[in-house]
Amino acid sequence: MDWREVYKDKIVSAAEAVSHIKSGDKIIYGDWLGEPPALVAALIERSADLKNVEIIHGISPGPNADTDPAYEGIFHHTAVFLGALSRPGYYDGKVEYIGGSNFHEWPKMFGESKVLNPHWAMVQVSEPDENGLCSYGVDCSFTEPAVRTAAPGQVIVQINPSYPKVGGKMLDLKDADYIVYQDSPLYTIGRAVIDEKIQKIADYCSSLVEDGATLQLGIGALPDAIARNLTTKKDLGIHSETFTEAMMELIQAGVITNKCKTLHPGKCVFAQLAGSVDLYKFADGNPMFETYPVDYVNDPMVICQNFKQTSINACLQVDLKGQVNSETVKGKQFSGIGGQLDHVRGAQMSKGGKSIIALKSTAKGDTISQIVPFMEPGNVVTVSRYDSQYIVTEYGIADLKHKTERERAAALIAIAHPKFREELTQKAFEMGLLH
Ligand code: COA
Repeated sequence: MDWREVYKDKIVSAAEAVSHIKSGDKIIYGDWLGEPPALVAALIERSADLKNVEIIHGISPGPNADTDPAYEGIFHHTAVFLGALSRPGYYDGKVEYIGGSNFHEWPKMFGESKVLNPHWAMVQVSEPDENGLCSYGVDCSFTEPAVRTAAPGQVIVQINPSYPKVGGKMLDLKDADYIVYQDSPLYTIGRAVIDEKIQKIADYCSSLVEDGATLQLGIGALPDAIARNLTTKKDLGIHSETFTEAMMELIQAGVITNKCKTLHPGKCVFAQLAGSVDLYKFADGNPMFETYPVDYVNDPMVICQNFKQTSINACLQVDLKGQVNSETVKGKQFSGIGGQLDHVRGAQMSKGGKSIIALKSTAKGDTISQIVPFMEPGNVVTVSRYDSQYIVTEYGIADLKHKTERERAAALIAIAHPKFREELTQKAFEMGLLH
């Protein structure tokens, strides 16, 4: 029987679905590019009836009305990651940032820890199959956990016929309380510009990637350039928080085969897709793709079951002891930890695994060194010196693991911009790191 017949009592308009939300309620949106556009628009439409509604989200693609003064006292936002759109709201005090959890632990905040419970889940999924199972498609990461941990009667699902159908964890329409069938354009992200420095960093990083490795890559210019540099490698696999456009190109080039994977052999495993409509079309019905929530994909104990797991992420600053700051600029929160530490640890626990953290040696037109003697006040350590392994800039690779403090400092000075090396060396002497 057609799913519309089976679930006819649950099928409502977006306006009807969100009319059940009351002042003071909490709502978790499907994460990032999986945010449900029709439901968010309908909620904003009825904002005049509401007060103190808390909205919990990740990188929001907008428009979710977080910073508009017109919504003061109506919507309050809690972000588990600061994206460009939430950042100004955070600095104005309109967005809270939860800084105390790794990505694989976020579902616990929604569920067993009761920190963000009870809540509504507002999510976007694909059309169902003949068994009433819908794909989480673009985003399963904390979207599936949001549904799993929602209060009884509080799951609103937008079925978007344009959404890709990807294997892995699915939403059973039995678990939906309100079903809104509405087509919406898919949120996409573009490709970053790759400059000469980024290309050099990519060259060094790709020299560390071995044939048969399973990869995790972050997003942005650096990971994109690195992936584009891997075309001569053989039989790579994917176990990554995010699946990107560049990874699709590596499949098309025959480089990613997933043949050597020891966990989910033959499959690309990820928690979210981030790219263009072409990527979503490529993923749609692709038997090589499986998506799961972050409490599986990002769990270091799961990541490490892959042989030669290689994680490559970006950061903002590294100090001479090998501490990595990926989140703060001048003491202010700039982004979030996301799954960086999950993958750094999981990769190093894997047999033959490696964790690579890359950065440009300078910021602001070569006026600021990103290799620093020590972190300035307020800047945080995202990856501790006990966890950092390979650090890469456009000047080379520093292998920090199992090295003495002096060896680490010297290796990091060697990959700093030449104009800052003397000053860093002087500081290292003052700090007793060099003799
Ligand atoms: N003083 C002043 N400005 C500084 C600075 C400093 N010391 N250090 C950095 N900045 C500025 C840069 O100039 C840049 O500003 P601009 O855009 O105006 O030039 C900005 O801060 C940082 O931008 P950029 O280096 O381009 O960041 P990015 O988009 O490549 O993102 C991270 C880098 C580290 C923020 C990002 O990768 C991240 O959030 N990582 C943590 C999460 C993660 O790794 N998840 C992994 C799984 S997907």
